[in-house]
Amino acid sequence: MPEQNDIRNAYTISADFYRNEKLLSLVKENIFARSWQFVTDTARLKAPGHAVPLTMLEGFLNEPVLLTRDSGDQLHCLSNVCTHRGNMLTEGECHTTSLRCRYHGRRFNLDGKITSAPGFEDAIDFPAESDNLTAVPFALWKTMLFVNASVTQPLFTLAELVADMDKRLGWLPLEKFLFDSTGAREYLVKANWALYCENYLEGMHIPYVHPDLATALDIKDYRSEIYEYSNLQIGIASSAQECFDLPRSSPDFGQRIGGYYYWLFPNMMFNFYPWGLSINIVQPLGQELTKVVFLPYVLDESKRALGAGAALDRVEREDEEIVERVQQGVKSRFYKRGRYAPRWEKGVKHFHDLLKRFVPEID
Ligand code: FES
Ligand SMILES: [Fe+2]
Repeated sequence: MPEQNDIRNAYTISADFYRNEKLLSLVKENIFARSWQFVTDTARLKAPGHAVPLTMLEGFLNEPVLLTRDSGDQLHCLSNVCTHRGNMLTEGECHTTSLRCRYHGRRFNLDGKITSAPGFEDAIDFPAESDNLTAVPFALWKTMLFVNASVTQPLFTLAELVADMDKRLGWLPLEKFLFDSTGAREYLVKANWALYCENYLEGMHIPYVHPDLATALDIKDYRSEIYEYSNLQIGIASSAQECFDLPRSSPDFGQRIGGYYYWLFPNMMFNFYPWGLSINIVQPLGQELTKVVFLPYVLDESKRALGAGAALDRVEREDEEIVERVQQGVKSRFYKRGRYAPRWEKGVKHFHDLLKRFVPEID
């Protein structure tokens, strides 16, 4: 007798998920606003005095934050909204000793402390703690900086999110991975963000949708591992294809790994290849529109065109085409939900289970 929630007899989430605006706003506030979002790496804030304003998931969360490195060399993530009447504070990336609001001249240090407030000379109980810029939760995995827009409590810590990636790939010299801004790409996909993630989370479509990629990977050796808030798909390189030169300390030592595909709940992909890392961020823009950002971090440029990590743009377009067709399909009056292929779709089910755990309204 299979247990409850056994993949062998479980059903996927209802197609209603991809159409229901109320569910999307619940997902936004209960999941995205309380999850970790990769924003940049520490090289962007190399020296004290640097300040980088960012909008978290523009078009969806729209949360304005400001990353700074203060004079004491400490990193901060602050709300980029002036505590007086709410003007957006810093307008562009800059190097400075203090932050001045352009509206009425209030000043703050790079750690968020208010230092002057013209016009408030007669104010009582001023300044209070609430007059400082609000600190926004942020955390680092090695050189990678993540921010959490939660005003209450993040759903989980960054350490919990990256625990298994760190255990397996902690040997990689991430400080030597250089961001290649000219290689960064943005794709607009006419589909729900979750359909894009689901497609990523199974290798079952590779021989059908990506015939070229299928020759670089030995698909019969494909495997996936499920962790609490992340999962991993391992691509085994076909013979003669580029693979990782693994250290003895790696649990995969002796195997021909062509790619490690980590998915971090809810919307990030950390794909490690012999040439480096492609961080892919899936950004919902609406019920049927998603932006996908590819951020390449290069360790060894000479391997960029080789193996499973090559031709990522082509693979992406092949995925987009199929995902956009699925978007049309799940809107059909006749499609309700499907089943999982037990050998291949553990990651898809894991994603659905997490969605349901944090938004119980999802059926
Ligand atoms: S809104 Fe910033 S000083 Fe008034
Ligand atoms: Fe794909």
